[in-house]
Amino acid sequence: MKPLFKGKHFITLEDWKKAEIDKLLDVSAELKRKFLANEVTDYLKNKTSFLMFFEQSTRTRNSMEAGIAQLGGHANFLDTSTMQIAHGETGTDTAIILSSYGHAIACRNCFWKIGNKFLREMALHATVPVMNLQCDLYHPMQGLADLMTIKEVKKETKRLKVGIIWAYATSHKKPISVPLTQSLLFPRYGMDVVLAHPKGYELPDWVIEKAKENAQENGGTFIVTHDQDEAYRDADIVIPKNWGSWASNESDEVIDEILEANRHWKCTEEKMALAKADVNYMHALPADRGNEVEDSVIDGEHSIVYQEAENRLHTAKAVMAMTMGDK
Ligand code: CP
Repeated sequence: MKPLFKGKHFITLEDWKKAEIDKLLDVSAELKRKFLANEVTDYLKNKTSFLMFFEQSTRTRNSMEAGIAQLGGHANFLDTSTMQIAHGETGTDTAIILSSYGHAIACRNCFWKIGNKFLREMALHATVPVMNLQCDLYHPMQGLADLMTIKEVKKETKRLKVGIIWAYATSHKKPISVPLTQSLLFPRYGMDVVLAHPKGYELPDWVIEKAKENAQENGGTFIVTHDQDEAYRDADIVIPKNWGSWASNESDEVIDEILEANRHWKCTEEKMALAKADVNYMHALPADRGNEVEDSVIDGEHSIVYQEAENRLHTAKAVMAMTMGDK
């Protein structure tokens, strides 16, 4: 398998043309088929990827680690609290050094107004591809797996009504990177996206402008509402998920008055009944069960969350196989 995009950074899908994303999806499907058929796919034999994590992860870390092993390579997991970064070493120096030891640098850094800048700094100085494993703004690995899952389940993406819906949760103040990535990506595939959230949970203005532009260029639509029912009504796909009020409130306090005033933003069977009969429920996971969503919905017949999570493996492998290569 030729790394068609060798050396290309994977920081946001906005930097990737649609034809390139389509190629990643094709390769993901091929790698999924080969994985399930137990075929050898050692396209990255003796290649090393460094996986730097500033935060916790289940899906992202393990899909990357298992993925590169299945491609014949090796992952070095790096808890950044044990790196010299914790003593102030810069992203620049880290990127130069790790580039000289291996073939890719992947990183999760979700700190508000820091994460994306850190990744961009590393990308500027790295001589290998830098992969975003989620930052304060983007989660392209998740976005790609979501798109793969939607295509698998619905076949056609044009004119699908997709509700990206804020939901109540108390576990931690979550990044905006998942709804932001979906808001920018799905209109590029002709979907009719309704972004619904209570006041105080806005995505940045530039995101809304760009999402509308992406919709206009690709035959989709993008609207924002404070009425969650509008997003559920006649939807083909609903993605109710919590995100933090980062754009209007930089405090990392988890529970505040605005959050508590919006406990009713929960995905229930009653809300699902507003959607089409064959609606699908998606969530990047982990879900805050009982708060964001009722168990009967996430465990119910409309839910495709495990397929969505499984596809994280195949899409991660496609990104690595297409961007990593010989020195
Ligand atoms: N969806 C997602 O990124 O999961 P993790 O936080 O477990 O990696």
